[in-house]
Parts: sequence; structure tokens; C-alpha cells
Amino acid sequence: MKRMLVTGSSGLIGSEVCSYFHAQGWAIHGVDNNSRATFFGPSGDTRWNQQRLQAELKHFRHHELDIRNRAGALALIGELKPDVIVHTAAQPSHDLAAKIPFDDFDTNAVGTLNLLEAARLSAPATVFVHMSTNKVYGDAPNELPLVEQAKRWDYASPGDFDGITEHMRIDQSKHSLFGASKVAADVIVQEYGRYFGLKSCCLRGGCLTGPNHSGVELHGFLSYLIKCNLEGKQYNIYGYKGKQVRDNIQT
Ligand SMILES: NC(=O)c1ccc[n+]([C@@H]2O[C@H](COP(=O)([O-])OP(=O)(O)OC[C@H]3O[C@@H](n4cnc5c(N)ncnc54)[C@H](O)[C@@H]3O)[C@@H](O)[C@H]2O)c1
Repeated sequence: MKRMLVTGSSGLIGSEVCSYFHAQGWAIHGVDNNSRATFFGPSGDTRWNQQRLQAELKHFRHHELDIRNRAGALALIGELKPDVIVHTAAQPSHDLAAKIPFDDFDTNAVGTLNLLEAARLSAPATVFVHMSTNKVYGDAPNELPLVEQAKRWDYASPGDFDGITEHMRIDQSKHSLFGASKVAADVIVQEYGRYFGLKSCCLRGGCLTGPNHSGVELHGFLSYLIKCNLEGKQYNIYGYKGKQVRDNIQT
């Protein structure tokens, strides 16, 4: 069986990657240490999703590893020599990053470097897929012209309908500390491809959602909105006259 290592396997995107490729016949090795609960408290806890994968997927194995653990990452990747690494483990919140700048950068930037270097040293044939974000463009996308509709804002130019072009600048833009740590990761993933020849790529998603998100106020808004609705909690809306700006993508 082909082997895939998925970091952040108990999270929204990682768990969907595990299920999807397991169904295609891959053996899946998940890496997650439930940092989401440390970041966001008990409502961010992802153990339920880890246990779901362990119960549902016959060829899934969980590895309790912190990607900041450089030696641990090297040992695991050296042992598994995966055909593909899909890297989705991260501190994912813009607002939280400002409160925990070292944890944010150590996880998003240094954690990514740990995995890349481990792959280069011990599994150089691996394909390294990095879950980046449109936040690498900072607030530059906010300059794209919008048209106000009754309940939402749409892009004014048809050229923007399919997403933000990769030609958008990343300089002269405010990123949040989260965006900055993700830029560092994104650029270094590209560099391991161009400089070292590792087969790497960055996917710059935005506003992903799905039933397997452990939604909290600071991350995973749609999941959190439904939670508030079910639990009768107040939901606060910020900016843009309370109207939706971006589409959400189901994982
Ligand atoms: N959800 C979105 O809308 C969205 C949009 C664009 C990009 N992304 C990116 O996709 C990736 C995954 O996002 P998500 O929404 O699935 O987040 P998530 O928080 O649901 O999943 C991330 C997982 O990584 C784990 N993790 C965090 N730090 C770790 C560490 N040090 N060691 C091991 N595991 C660790 C967490 O416990 C969590 O289970 C992130 O890189 C995020 O920036 C997400």
C-alpha cells in the first residue's frame, strides 16, 4: 500500500484528507497532538475526531507527535518514508496569533521547516503538500472591488470569481502574525522545491468548513455559528454591515 503522512490529522482538513485517501486504498499515518485544545480550550478539542478516524479507517494509525519536536519528526519520517506528506497541522487563528506569537511561529513556520528538513534528509522522493492560506496575501484582497447585494458582497469583476490570483502581491500588506508565520512556511515550502528539488506545493485555501471542524469563535466560523444556534448562544458579527463576503468551501 502507498503510505501517506497527514499532519493535523484530527483537524478539519487533515481528517478529510485521511478519509478521502484511505478510501482510495492508501495507508494513512496521522500526526496530531491536540494542540487545538491548547489553543482554544475544551471546545477546540479534536480527540473525538482522532477516535472517529481510528474507529472508522482500518489502515489509519495515529502518531502523538508535536511537529515542533524536530528529532521526533525526523525519526517518524525516516521510519515511515511516506510517498506523500500532506501538512495541515497549524495554529490557524489570526486573532489568537497576536496573543501567542512564539507558539504561532514555532508551530506554523518552524514546524513546517522541521517536516521539510526531515523529508529532505530521510525521504527525499516524497511529495510534500502544504496547506497554506490566502492570508499570505494579507489584506491586499480587500482592495478587490465588491458589489453590495441584499445579503452579501460579491466580487465586481468576473476575473475574481474563481479565487484570488497567485500573482497578487504579498508585500505592502498587513497579514496578522498568523499570516506572517504562514508566509514564512509557504515560501520555505516553495524553496525546498526550487532549491533542493523536493516535490513540494502550497495550496492557498480560504474559508474551508465541514462537519468535522471543532469550531470556536476565533476559528471555524460556520461550524461555530451552527453551534451557537443549537445552543442558543449569542453570535457576534463583525464588519461589512453584517453581510457575508467570502464563500465557504465544504471539505
Ligand atoms: N479552515 C480554513 O478555513 C482554512 C483556510 C485556509 C487555510 N487553512 C489552513 O489549513 C490548515 C488546517 O486548517 P484546519 O481548519 O483543518 O485547522 P484545525 O485546527 O481544524 O486542524 C489543525 C490540526 O493541527 C493540530 N496541530 C496544531 N499544532 C500542532 C502541532 N504542533 N503538532 C501536531 N499537531 C498540531 C491541531 O491539534 C489540529 O487538530 C492550516 O494550515 C490552516 O492555516 C485553513
